[in-house]
Amino acid sequence: METENNKGFPIQAIAIPAVIATTIFLAIFGITESHRLRSYPLTTYNIPIPDDSVSIEHGRRLTHIRGCVDCHGEQMAGSILQKSLHTGLIAAPNITMGEGSAILDYSDQDLIRVIREGVRPNGKSVIIMPSHKFQVIHQRDLASLISYLRNTEPVHRTMPQSRINFPMRLYYFVNRKLALFPANLVKRPVEMPKSTPADRLTMGRYIASSCVGCHGHHLEGGPIPGAPPSWPEAPALDLDGVAGTWSKQQFKEAMTQGIAPDGRHLNEVFMPWPAFGQLTEAEYDLLWEYMQQL
Ligand code: HEC
Ligand code: HEC
Repeated sequence: METENNKGFPIQAIAIPAVIATTIFLAIFGITESHRLRSYPLTTYNIPIPDDSVSIEHGRRLTHIRGCVDCHGEQMAGSILQKSLHTGLIAAPNITMGEGSAILDYSDQDLIRVIREGVRPNGKSVIIMPSHKFQVIHQRDLASLISYLRNTEPVHRTMPQSRINFPMRLYYFVNRKLALFPANLVKRPVEMPKSTPADRLTMGRYIASSCVGCHGHHLEGGPIPGAPPSWPEAPALDLDGVAGTWSKQQFKEAMTQGIAPDGRHLNEVFMPWPAFGQLTEAEYDLLWEYMQQL
């Protein structure tokens, strides 16, 4: 037996790479798992939540403008965002007040914390939900959002638990900017932007905070961070782009009907213009004035 083994395929040729591969696998799994299980401090929030119809409607509008409905569904009743061998299963939960909702026993403070810090009541990070981008939302808007969540049509539906497969962990391992555990990306100590009356430019910049994730910090356009390679670049909206070449009327038409002045249809898969149909005339004016300064 011994001689046969010696003459045959050397066992080390398989064993050594197998040990190395297993070690790397376990290391990456272990490190990403430690990030998933990391505990974050539970910030205390004490914000009055309104319950009047104007605030509720304002909150509903914000779930469109801030993109919540893109993941949680039009009614906030949840949706499957990804299901593949590569990613695993990513589900945005039901967050209505119906049975099976993920937030039934959340206090207002728990909701605020999970939305703007990505930290659940058990101190762990949510996955995928871009909470670090919601830190800009000011106190009054946030209170209206909670007010809307408390008053949605209850939908009885239980969404499956999310799970992350190894290739996604590997991708996160090499690209820590990937918002897999967004509580990691939240600026600490956390501060809540005030909603005190501001000058028109500040108000315009605040509305533009819904656009900067794709169109760039100063709306200068360019490749969209984290987007699949098949996506187009985001066009410039500053004076070198839309603000310098279109009229305000053309801008509003593009944003509300999805048609550019040259007749091009804007693809709503990339550019969520139907959501921005929820902006008011006054908000469009502020946004346009801000774009004229860039
Ligand atoms: C890119 C997709 C995406 C967007 C945009 C998004 N969410 Fe989420 N949200 C998720 C996912 C996925 C989870 C579940 C995370 C998990 O399982 O750890 C989640 C969880 C939540 C939870 C907590 C539920 C729980 O299990 O603790 C709340 C509340 C919530 N989202 C509200 C919002 C609000 C409000 C907005 C808009 C301001 C929003 N989300 C935008 C994907 C998204
Ligand atoms: C999720 C990413 C995303 C967000 C958020 C987003 N955009 Fe876009 N936008 C795009 C992409 C991509 C295009 C190009 C679409 C196409 O060519 O079909 C685009 C196109 C446009 C255009 C047409 C420009 C042209 O030259 O054709 C305008 C105007 C525009 N966006 C304004 C805005 C404004 C204002 C906001 C915020 C209120 C915003 N966008 C938010 C991705 C985004």
